[in-house]
Amino acid sequence: MDNKAFAIAIMAAGKGTRLKSKRPKVLHEIGGRALLLHVIAASEKVVPANQIYCIIGHEADSVRAAVESTGIQFVLQPEQRGTGHALQMVKAFFALSGTSIPENLLVLSGDVPLIRPETIASICEAHLREKAAMTILTAVPPDPTGYGRIFRVAPDRPEVTAIIEQKSLTPDQLATPEINSGIYCFRTSALFDKLDLLNTDNAHGEFYLTDVAAMLVSDRQRVIAVQAESVDEVLGANTIAEMMHLDAAMRLATAKRLMASGVTIFRPETSVIDSEVTIGPDTVIEPYVQLLGSTRIGSDCRIRSYSVIQNSSLGDNITVRNGCIMDSAVIAEGAIIGPYSHLRPESRIGAGAHVGNFVETKKVTLGAGSKANHLNYLGDAAIGEGVNIGAGAITCNYDGVHKHQTTIGDHVFVGSDSTLVAPVTIESGAYVAAGSCITEDVPSGSLALGRARQIVKPDWVANRKKQPQ
Ligand code: UD1
Ligand code: CA
Repeated sequence: MDNKAFAIAIMAAGKGTRLKSKRPKVLHEIGGRALLLHVIAASEKVVPANQIYCIIGHEADSVRAAVESTGIQFVLQPEQRGTGHALQMVKAFFALSGTSIPENLLVLSGDVPLIRPETIASICEAHLREKAAMTILTAVPPDPTGYGRIFRVAPDRPEVTAIIEQKSLTPDQLATPEINSGIYCFRTSALFDKLDLLNTDNAHGEFYLTDVAAMLVSDRQRVIAVQAESVDEVLGANTIAEMMHLDAAMRLATAKRLMASGVTIFRPETSVIDSEVTIGPDTVIEPYVQLLGSTRIGSDCRIRSYSVIQNSSLGDNITVRNGCIMDSAVIAEGAIIGPYSHLRPESRIGAGAHVGNFVETKKVTLGAGSKANHLNYLGDAAIGEGVNIGAGAITCNYDGVHKHQTTIGDHVFVGSDSTLVAPVTIESGAYVAAGSCITEDVPSGSLALGRARQIVKPDWVANRKKQPQ
């Protein structure tokens, strides 16, 4: 395909009233990514970013900010007066900016997010091959309610006579099964000729882009329908329920792709895996796991149920036991995490290290083979290799105003229930006795005791009972 002959316009200015949300529809997420970003990603595989024009209007600033980094162009539709009006804005933009008009204009909807680049390319090809003025991507979903319907010259002919919106269907037209996906390819000159002739004489009082089809037909221009290979690909997201249906479809597709590459995912319909997540072969994902954002997991790992892992990087051969929460953590090979560990941002867990039950870490490096297995809080700390952090030991990193650093050398033993009051350093090989409150540095190889001496009073209980009440 000669992609210079094509530009893409993505309609994304609408409010999405049916969502009943204050967030613009195209910024709602499926598969962990905004609807509009999915459409842009597919578009970028067909034409370069500077040939993509995104029509924005409702909450234009936030929509622009969310997708600006893709390098596409923006066309403002200050008032949302319908899909036909959205394209009128594109026509005006070309005229005003002096941009040379592309021979063909592909029109996509910001709320039809599962569209694949192969499908976009194939309607371009059909459009050229059939020398059409307008090519419409269509589908026959199980329930066509809510969509505009396609009327063909005859069932087996590609030529279309009209697109009629749901609200304008006559009772005998209601059963028409073929829907308009809202994705089209136009010969730009044919489209631009008709845009100014549209009117708002319809159920919504809007300029319908779909009316262009019948206008071109009455001009004896060729309007054709091309059916999509998969129905899911052209489903729109007008309500939260429809959006969640697409979310599930997309996540299942991600899970299938991962399984095809050697990952075992038990009960994949229960897992929530974002589309950018990568996982190595022979890793096992148990039911009810969430893998989000840019998370990368190596091979031969096991992620047990109820863990939620976000933007984190896990090496090979790691076990994440049940119920762990991780955000922006980095874990080296062979580590064992959990159950119920909370690794907050900038937690770096070394090879073969263990982080266990109810342990919280933040801005911590835990060296290779080190262990913090029970009830610890480790924040703002550099911890060496082969260190044992006893049950209940914590870093006291915050003085109410500032955060302070704790440094622990290699092979240090920190006894249970110790409090390490930062800033403090415990040098390599040192021991901290259980129950110590450590406020001063501990030199290498020494033992630090920071607790009151125990007093034992023999026969105290019996003596007390003898005393008069
Ligand atoms: C539209 C089609 C319908 C088709 C359906 C497929 C029309 C009149 N109808 O209906 O035939 O079956 O898509 O999903 O086109 N938008 C703007 N500016 C506006 C209005 C809308 O940019 O003034 C954008 C929206 O943000 C959205 C897209 O255009 O991304 C479609 O608008 P929407 O209101 O959802 O149209 P539908 O009623 O779904
Ligand atoms: Ca829609």
